[in-house]
Amino acid sequence: RTGALVDRFGRIATDLRISLTDKCNLRCTYCMPAEGLPWLPKPQLLTDDEIVRLARIAIEKLGVREIRFTGGEPLLRPGLVDIVSQVARFEPRPDLSLTTNALGLARTAQALADAGLNRVNVSLDTLSEERFLSLTRRDRLHDTIAGIEAAAAAGLTPVKVNAVLMKGINEDEAPALLQWALDHGYELRFIEQMPIDGAHVWDRHTMITAEQILHSLQEHFELTPDPAHRGAAPAETWLVNGGPAKVGVIGSVTRPFCGDCDRTRLTADGQIRNCLFAREESDLRGALRDGASDDVLADRWRSAMFGKRPGHGIDDPSFLQPVRPMSSIGG
Ligand code: GTP
Ligand code: 5AD
Ligand code: SF4
Repeated sequence: RTGALVDRFGRIATDLRISLTDKCNLRCTYCMPAEGLPWLPKPQLLTDDEIVRLARIAIEKLGVREIRFTGGEPLLRPGLVDIVSQVARFEPRPDLSLTTNALGLARTAQALADAGLNRVNVSLDTLSEERFLSLTRRDRLHDTIAGIEAAAAAGLTPVKVNAVLMKGINEDEAPALLQWALDHGYELRFIEQMPIDGAHVWDRHTMITAEQILHSLQEHFELTPDPAHRGAAPAETWLVNGGPAKVGVIGSVTRPFCGDCDRTRLTADGQIRNCLFAREESDLRGALRDGASDDVLADRWRSAMFGKRPGHGIDDPSFLQPVRPMSSIGG
């Protein structure tokens, strides 16, 4: 039996995001409190073999074509390279990518590329050591930069860099970040902060909007809309100074893109989330450990996606932040 992950609005999920761990070695103030969060208990985490099996079912039975590994910080998962190399062998071969803070990537970029990883997206909000320390509570800007450079050298390209701007912290840094990205050949995307922070610090009135970001960039660069087809991508892109370099803005709050969503998510503890902001999850781990067949697991996954809501509903008066923090969903 085969059949895509279709929801009742006709959207088809072909992009799977797998969170490999809820742990992280940074403590970004907009994501986690200084002391961290109550981590998922080890027995509840999917094993490497369980993850590989679910990825195979997604590819072979559910029509998934792209898999992104996320966290927490996915480089903290000891089996990462092995998971990538196994998933890269399935047919049709999926596009494989990683969203990471790049700490330690300098050591593993080549092995990941050899295992079949196609590309990486790296989170980096500032180029100032001082700001990096106050934003992430760790003094590791140089490790992140070294990781980005190693990824580019290993051919994990295009290397995309994700930056969240925050009022009074790094809101003035958009042009400098873009100039740096242009100089090095990275594709920079600015992300509007979303109400999904473990620390509950989000405030609509202080979040930096897509429009503000574009204004500040246009004081220094000429931006023209990217003629390339956007598809289901969260990022809206612009050509910089005539191209070919691009800059992206992910306006999740003020320019939502839910109508074209093609994403399904698997958490490190084996739950399917049909939306980043889903209020309910569907347990695959229990069925898997009870001996369910591939077809039964695939059917569960289809039902989980069928009930996907039309959008995140951040603007609805009844909006509630998901119970699971961003760091345990993987963005
Ligand atoms: P590519 O376009 O394939 O390179 O990846 P991506 O931009 O989807 O992935 P990435 O992990 O780099 O995500 C960048 C930002 O977009 C993160 O802050 C995510 O939380 C946000 N994002 C990713 N997927 C979704 C989504 O489904 N909904 C919303 N609202 N935001 C998302
Ligand atoms: N809003 C928007 N982006 C966020 N990220 C983490 N928390 C938030 C939030 N509340 C970003 C990280 C990383 C990506 C996976 O998600 O900066 O780039
Ligand atoms: Fe898709 Fe939900 Fe993200 Fe909207 S918020 S783009 S529906 S995952």
